[in-house]
Amino acid sequence: MGCGYSIKFYVMTLFPEVIKNFINYSILKRATEKKIIDINIFNIRDFSCDKNKCVDDYSFGGGAGMIIKAQPIYDCYLEIKNKINKKNPRVVYLTPQGKLFNQKYAKKLSNDQEIILLCGHYESIDERVIKKIVTNEISIGDYILTGGELAACVLIDSISRLIFGVLNKNISFEKESFENNLLEYAQYTRPRIFMDYSVPDVLISGNHNKINSWRLKDSFERTLIKRPDILKNKNDFFRGNIMNAILTRRSIRKYKNHDISEDQINLLLKAAMSAPSAMNSQNWEFIVIKNREHLIELSKLNPYSEMLSQAGAAIIVCGDLNKNLAKEFWIQNCSAATQNILLQANVIELGAVWIGICPFEDRMQKLSENLKLPENIKPLGIISIGIPDEFKPPSNNFDENKIHYEEFKNNK
Ligand SMILES: Cc1cc2nc3c(=O)[nH]c(=O)nc-3n(C[C@H](O)[C@H](O)[C@H](O)COP(=O)(O)O)c2cc1C
Repeated sequence: MGCGYSIKFYVMTLFPEVIKNFINYSILKRATEKKIIDINIFNIRDFSCDKNKCVDDYSFGGGAGMIIKAQPIYDCYLEIKNKINKKNPRVVYLTPQGKLFNQKYAKKLSNDQEIILLCGHYESIDERVIKKIVTNEISIGDYILTGGELAACVLIDSISRLIFGVLNKNISFEKESFENNLLEYAQYTRPRIFMDYSVPDVLISGNHNKINSWRLKDSFERTLIKRPDILKNKNDFFRGNIMNAILTRRSIRKYKNHDISEDQINLLLKAAMSAPSAMNSQNWEFIVIKNREHLIELSKLNPYSEMLSQAGAAIIVCGDLNKNLAKEFWIQNCSAATQNILLQANVIELGAVWIGICPFEDRMQKLSENLKLPENIKPLGIISIGIPDEFKPPSNNFDENKIHYEEFKNNK
């Protein structure tokens, strides 16, 4: 484009003032002043060949209402097309017959460099010019307006705010309503108590893990109640939740002095036993340690396991080599079970870390003796578990260079 604008709108209308007034305030005004967006308004009437600048006429075949003629619209379009200097610019006609506009559509259009918006008025527009120039028909809802101007303003507003730099702060679009098919969670500002209503405690806790979980849950619940139609299926929530659990899982090695309940342990082990296993062999066994002295003893048994002395519990994940079925895969099976425990621990707000035992023979032997493991039961690792006394930000390890399609390519 060469002019610095990120997006240019060209509006064809019979009522330019409606658009002018709308764009002359607040965020859109600032964005036009900053030359991030550019809104050009064309009065269709200016292009009428009629000496009285008449733009409408009666409908062939009869019927109430006037029809906007094809000629002034087409000439107006040609003028804009010349300006843009593009062969087939996008021309959006705002009409109740169009595709329903939504956030996803706004996102798609925000990638355009220029968009022409055609606003009808009166009864309709001559069909032939619609056929000739319109690329997209868009409706902003199942109701009828007196003209397309309001709808055009809706598009300009929703598309512009997605353009980088239009909103002052760098807002996270992922958290907004309609992203991931969820409504945005409830938000609060000062004061903390208003007419006996206080802000939910979790939001003042400073624990970002908890705040994120609370917000996701709130988003899901309000979508389920207010707009179940956009929640395409309940799996959307679980999918979001799983990604959240994966990204916020970190190795937590500092714990508060607190017991871990049997219910919590059982939930972790339920997660463990739901892991995939080769030939569905499930050749795993779990040893739970809760006794403080025993935990301290284990913390001294192996390197890098001091955190066990503070832990509320530990689970030792073992493979059973007597189970012939897929016994060669015991390490993979137990690893999958271990990861499930780590994720489930995170979901129920416990902190956990994987302490590596296998494949080090000396560590495996010392632990086996301590736990009186029979010959066929091999320890893979210890999971140290407790109420977290440290916060770690979600990991961001995604690295495109590690992805290879079809064959290995050195991306470094
Ligand atoms: C097989 C394996 C063995 C590990 N052994 C230990 C260990 O002995 N002690 C420890 O503190 N952390 C151990 N970890 C945790 C890693 O250090 C940790 O996952 C890694 O630094 C990434 O940090 P994150 O888990 O917070 O994302 C182990 C992890 C794996 C997968």
